[in-house]
Amino acid sequence: MKSADIRDKFLQFFSSKNHLVVPSAPLVVKNDPTLMFTNAGMNRFKDIFLGNEPAESPRVADTQKCLRVSGKHNDLEEVGVDTYHHTLFEMLGNWSFGDYYKKEAIEWAWELLTEVYKIDKDRLYVTVFEGDKSDGIEFDREAYDHWKGLISEDRIIAASKKDNFWEMGDTGPCGPCSEIHVDMRTDAERNSVSGKELVNADHPQVIEIWNLVFMELQRRSDGSLEPLKAKHIDTGMGFERLSMVLQGKTSSYDTDVFSPLIDFIAKETGKKYTRGDSKQDVAFRVLADHVRAVAFAIADGQMPSNTGTGYVIRRILRRAVRYAYSFLDRKEPLLQELAEVLIAQMGGFFEELKSNEKLIRDVIREEEEAFLRTLAKGIQLIDDILQNTKDDRIGGEVVFELYDTFGFPVDLTALILSEHGKTYDETAFQKALEAQKKRSRSAAVQDTGDWVVVGNYRATEFVGYDSLETEMNLARYRKVTQKGKDFYQLVFDRTPFYPEGGGQTGDRGYVEGEGVRIPVIGTFRENNLIVHLSPKSPEALPAAVKGVVDAERRSLTAKNHTATHLLHHALRALLGTHVEQRGSLLEKDYLRFDFSHFAKVTDEEIRKIEQAVNAAVRRDIPLEEFRNIPMAEAREMGAMALFGEKYGDSVRAIRFGESVELCGGTHVRATGEIGFFKIVSEGSVAAGIRRLAGQGARSTAP
Ligand code: ALA
Repeated sequence: MKSADIRDKFLQFFSSKNHLVVPSAPLVVKNDPTLMFTNAGMNRFKDIFLGNEPAESPRVADTQKCLRVSGKHNDLEEVGVDTYHHTLFEMLGNWSFGDYYKKEAIEWAWELLTEVYKIDKDRLYVTVFEGDKSDGIEFDREAYDHWKGLISEDRIIAASKKDNFWEMGDTGPCGPCSEIHVDMRTDAERNSVSGKELVNADHPQVIEIWNLVFMELQRRSDGSLEPLKAKHIDTGMGFERLSMVLQGKTSSYDTDVFSPLIDFIAKETGKKYTRGDSKQDVAFRVLADHVRAVAFAIADGQMPSNTGTGYVIRRILRRAVRYAYSFLDRKEPLLQELAEVLIAQMGGFFEELKSNEKLIRDVIREEEEAFLRTLAKGIQLIDDILQNTKDDRIGGEVVFELYDTFGFPVDLTALILSEHGKTYDETAFQKALEAQKKRSRSAAVQDTGDWVVVGNYRATEFVGYDSLETEMNLARYRKVTQKGKDFYQLVFDRTPFYPEGGGQTGDRGYVEGEGVRIPVIGTFRENNLIVHLSPKSPEALPAAVKGVVDAERRSLTAKNHTATHLLHHALRALLGTHVEQRGSLLEKDYLRFDFSHFAKVTDEEIRKIEQAVNAAVRRDIPLEEFRNIPMAEAREMGAMALFGEKYGDSVRAIRFGESVELCGGTHVRATGEIGFFKIVSEGSVAAGIRRLAGQGARSTAP
């Protein structure tokens, strides 16, 4: 069975059991500070499990793109070394939101595996949760009894919290689970050692393929558990592993998910993949795996960059380049061509790959070229060091500097040194590395307390398009500590404060009631809540308060936001319709706009763009706002969906004359309010992406 058919069969099966089949959510997670990337199928449904959001349908099925390269579930360093770990993988899942529970989840999983996919029953084992005293949870008798009707009891294994209690992260929804394992060994091997002994023992041929999670609890930040309002099903089956089982392979890299990529690498480099554990074989797997992670991330709008999420993608890409460079003797770009093979192979099902093909290849090529230059420069630097020293051991600080400043991989330094019969001071290197890690940890660590619920409101209503002041009720708050300082996050039933989003900075201002006033120093969105940040505790406030937005700051920001729309329109008119917004930042004193364009914007072009925007300013074009209109209608008006953004069925469109954008931000009433627009700088941010900074407003206050 081809892997594409395996995926289809899964979705069809659950569709026949009345599940709504939905496309994968994006890989990159927005609005959830606990996650960078989707690392499990259930992430997107977290708020439904927690009862903060209603479900679109009580039963859902999908294949979800997942990336496990940061946080609690992190496999990066293992990828390529063995024959079954991956950075990016697809997780096939079926969900029940307060609908069916253990019985159906177990019976359907069994039916699909044994009757549709026809996996041999005597290769299957299942596990159930044995319970845990410290958490006060009993043995999962219910799951055991359902399994007993389907599989002989000596194939049911009780397993501990480590394997059979699933948690999304340190906090959040969780619950006991039941896993299905398959024994892929030969008959001779199976006769000599029972598969039962090898379940959960890291045997490469006795593997877990499906995890059925019974979501009924929530882990709080003090470690305690509390029941969820309803019981849900969350299942996850590794698509690549399932393909390996059904295609009778011993490694997922041997399935048709990876073989086109492996074959291409062999053809291009003239090397052979021998399925072993030589560095060369590892390099094949690293490349075949990493190109997927990088291409899918770019398709979902995440460019490689120097910070945060973008840096993780850059590191994955560089790891691939470095393996190709050192172990496949490839000194020129290879990944971007490999991406072409991937897109041809998977762009049918994941159309985001197809529609962003050019961008994906351009970005990868430029990143590869830049890193290959770094590698060449690093090698030059090492040569200089070797020329100027007679010591057999090079200082650890020098190696650290190569790594830290030039992004030069340590193991490559070590390899080059060893080729010259030299070593380096590893202890000193480790010390420098630890010191750097400690610095970045203390900058990043945030200690988040549990929510204190004050009033029972499920979501925040945003009223800030129409008013800058409103009566509101405190719904919940919590304390967060960062760099030793306490802050409070406040959520209300309604709010005039605009939460940071669409590039526009969050509002500031204050809330007050009964003579107590506390400042709001920032506003942002977390999942479906609007969170207000204050340095002061709201404990002294009454439940009903007045929220007041800093009107001056809001008005300046609105001028910069509207100016950005005019700028976008002018760019497309003057440079061409290949110009598309790639990012923006709108503050009270300046605006920044990133867009796709392959050449430097010349001084002459800048002058023309400024003239076009200022002409629109002088025409004093009035704002036309369309709230909650269908997407199709907005498109008809000329609005473009932004790359990497998800839109609901109804959208908000903003029109100033010929400029029409899908936008949730706040704007001036007419363009004349801007007064004057000026571009202050032009530069490049990534391959094929330019950045203009400008001003449509600036505060006069010092
Ligand atoms: N959420 C479960 C997992 O990721 C299904 O394994």
